[in-house]
Amino acid sequence: MPGKKQDKIMVLFDKFNGNWDLRREVSVFGEILGNPTWVILPFVSTVEELAGTEIAECVRAEVKKESAVRETLSRVVSCAKRSFKQKTTESFVYGRKKFGICYALVSEGNVFGAIAACGLEKDMPSDMKKLFMSFTDVVIRQTRQEIELEELNKTVRPRAVALSTVHTVHRLMTATFDITELLPRIAHLTLQVTRANRCSIKMVDKKRKTLLPKVTVDLREKKAKLKKVQIGKYAPGKAVKQGIPIRGAKYLSAPMVDEDVIGAITIYDKTDGTEFNQFDEEIMKTLAEQAAIAIKNAQLYKEQADITISSIRCISHMLANRSSVTYSTEASFLKLINIVGPRLGLNESETKMLQYAAMLHDAGQISVPEKVLMKKGGLTGKEYSIIKRHPMKGASLLSKFKPLKPILPIIRYHHENFDGTGYPKGLKGRDIPLSARILAVISSFEAMITEKPYRKALSITDAIKELKRNKGKQFDPDIVDVLCDVVARKDVKRLIEKDISMNNKVT
Ligand SMILES: [Fe+2]
Repeated sequence: MPGKKQDKIMVLFDKFNGNWDLRREVSVFGEILGNPTWVILPFVSTVEELAGTEIAECVRAEVKKESAVRETLSRVVSCAKRSFKQKTTESFVYGRKKFGICYALVSEGNVFGAIAACGLEKDMPSDMKKLFMSFTDVVIRQTRQEIELEELNKTVRPRAVALSTVHTVHRLMTATFDITELLPRIAHLTLQVTRANRCSIKMVDKKRKTLLPKVTVDLREKKAKLKKVQIGKYAPGKAVKQGIPIRGAKYLSAPMVDEDVIGAITIYDKTDGTEFNQFDEEIMKTLAEQAAIAIKNAQLYKEQADITISSIRCISHMLANRSSVTYSTEASFLKLINIVGPRLGLNESETKMLQYAAMLHDAGQISVPEKVLMKKGGLTGKEYSIIKRHPMKGASLLSKFKPLKPILPIIRYHHENFDGTGYPKGLKGRDIPLSARILAVISSFEAMITEKPYRKALSITDAIKELKRNKGKQFDPDIVDVLCDVVARKDVKRLIEKDISMNNKVT
């Protein structure tokens, strides 16, 4: 393209003109030549182009008549042309034996300017001309390399930045398996990476006819509304239908492809007001690929978690049917764990595992004969030793189910006492896993407020008193304190009372 070539020549000329080595060259040769006037010009082909330049001034200092000035300038023009053709430094003479030199600046066969000196008392010797040319050529080469390096920087640097951003995006996206958290995270990250004002994520519906809006992050004051879009229409609909990015000046939509297209991420309006370009498209393609993987992983994780929880519920109900008094998966019980667990330092996954453990902690009782389990009144020593086996039996039974591996220590040690008087190992204090200590307190509390065949249920207040009485003996005192605190909350108390009254209705 001629425009682009012209731009390149101008860039080269400006860079050359500003080069420090050129200044040094001019000053060194200037000293040898008696300080002539130096001029660096874009390439000139007419006298008019030279008329307003310093070279014309320099000539006028020697030649008074304007016609003679023009005649000298035309000599300079021919001198520049000759220099380009013959690749030499050409001289011109004017006035009363004044000399000038001219050397065409050429890079890769293209002339981009000329360097000239005028006001010399004598012609430049040919050896010095050779030296002058080779110096100038070195500066030209150096300037070209500088430009190439800058261009390389311009192309490579954003790509390097984008790559490292995509790497960060990948890490952040795969750090969560919760799809409700994941989609807003993808949208925010997309905006950060692409520097756009709005990002919308739409997912293909089950019938594969429309795209349903899931998340929009809009940084503009006037927010856009969430809209569903038919597949094939608008940028997201077209991106999904064609399976390729769709780009306009103010929008860019990339399809998220797993095996099928599962949705589209669309960005609108760059923050700097420029148009979306090929580079943004490449970034969005990569981002959409990463997003599709992260979404698929989150969906698989959810499916797996659903299967796990259904299996746990199923086992729990089977056990509950066998003995209606030993199991509870009441909402209040699980809620208590949900509040108490994090307050005692459990993370999200540990809290979830504790809930699973709570639902299954007495699974080992399946091996205890029903008559022992349901016996009213005291147990014989032999019967008690059978009961004491249930934590180990339960852990062994559930060890066959891999996703439940983290809950096995909780099951194993839920009957250990804080003072070391519990079973099966007689562990003491903090040697008992934290989750097992929590479960011991919460399940005892729950057992106390639930009616048993051999005794009536305690009131919440009495159960709390009982827990406090056993602080430091059966129970970890810190955990009892936290539980008492939580049970005192109105919403929690209400939920517990609701579960108690429901149970009473059932029984
Ligand atoms: Fe138990």
